[in-house]
Amino acid sequence: MIVEAKRMNKISEYFFSKKMKEISHLEDEGINVINLGIGNPDLLPPNGVIQKMKEASELYHANAYQSYIGIEELRIAISNWYWKLYQVRIDSNYEILPLIGSKEGVMHISMSYLNRGDKVLIPDPGYPTYSSISHLLEADIIYYDLYEKKNWIPNVQYMMENKNMYNVKMMWINYPHMPTGATINLEKLEEIVFFAKKNNILLVHDNPYSFILNDRRPLSIFNIKGAKDIAIELNSLSKSYNMPGWRIGMVIGKKEFIYNIAKAKSQMDSGMYYPIQIGAIEAMKNHDEWFEKLNIEYYKRRKIIWKICDYLNLKYSVKSCGIFVWAKIVDHEISDYIWSDNFLRKYHIFITPGSIFGNNGNGYVRFSMCCPIKILEKAKNRIFS
Ligand SMILES: Cc1ncc(COP(=O)(O)O)c(C=O)c1O
Repeated sequence: MIVEAKRMNKISEYFFSKKMKEISHLEDEGINVINLGIGNPDLLPPNGVIQKMKEASELYHANAYQSYIGIEELRIAISNWYWKLYQVRIDSNYEILPLIGSKEGVMHISMSYLNRGDKVLIPDPGYPTYSSISHLLEADIIYYDLYEKKNWIPNVQYMMENKNMYNVKMMWINYPHMPTGATINLEKLEEIVFFAKKNNILLVHDNPYSFILNDRRPLSIFNIKGAKDIAIELNSLSKSYNMPGWRIGMVIGKKEFIYNIAKAKSQMDSGMYYPIQIGAIEAMKNHDEWFEKLNIEYYKRRKIIWKICDYLNLKYSVKSCGIFVWAKIVDHEISDYIWSDNFLRKYHIFITPGSIFGNNGNGYVRFSMCCPIKILEKAKNRIFS
């Protein structure tokens, strides 16, 4: 018998991969399941993006291996995009590494900076990939609590006074926050940067939701003076331009950080398909008007989900950002896992139980807005009838 590596015991199959198998069994039985669980944008990328990608695919050199650090035009486009949308200057030669989706960046960053036994601060609730990658690398996870009553913002003062920061190497933050949709202001972000600097921690800000339903100024970690010394940022075109399947992300940071991350990443892939890079450049030419139009659609979708929540007595924040509605099960005596399984059985609608994002997600559920209005209305009618 060939036994898998011990590190494999520390992770379990991705929740959504397991759940999709279950849903596909139900569909095999002829049941139509409405999927409001996954944040998989269903809308199209901006006009012209697909055409540019197609044209680029006809070019002879498109078939070759591409640069490990992305083509220069893509890095320049990212730098311009950061300047236009966040008013942050990034050196396109040294401070940008395009990624095959930001999810792989979680691995490359962790692999470049974490040794076995290093401590890593991870939000609870938070994106599950931060902890699964840390487990794979045999780092020690310290979860930091996010609570609704504290607007899902970390209490760094408490952490400094009460948690042992010895050997803490890295901290993950993510605002607008997934799954709660919470936002952060400059002052709080500044506090976190100060905390990271004081404790010599590499701060990684994961920032894929800043343009979706965000009424405030979109923030980058680099809006904080001096953040570049200790911080890096992940960003992505998946949600901003409805291109999740294209797999386009980026990591931004000072030269030394990017050099190390590229050193690790270049051992694993050999650049990104040229037409995809050309499509990404085209997409990033779109901003104000594009986001306005995109958000009009998400406002409409969110309204329907809010109606569903009101009917089910689920409590949500009207200020939240991003592509999800995060809602509290008010009268719950059962776990959110059972609640959402019951919901799936009763209405054939899949929503995500909050506990998959950590202990502090217990008692909440997450609805995705990545579903056409017609289907959302159908879901509403199923529940209301
Ligand atoms: C918080 C967060 N970070 C990163 C990602 C990964 O996005 P992608 O790999 O599509 O860029 C996701 C995707 O759902 C996410 O929710």
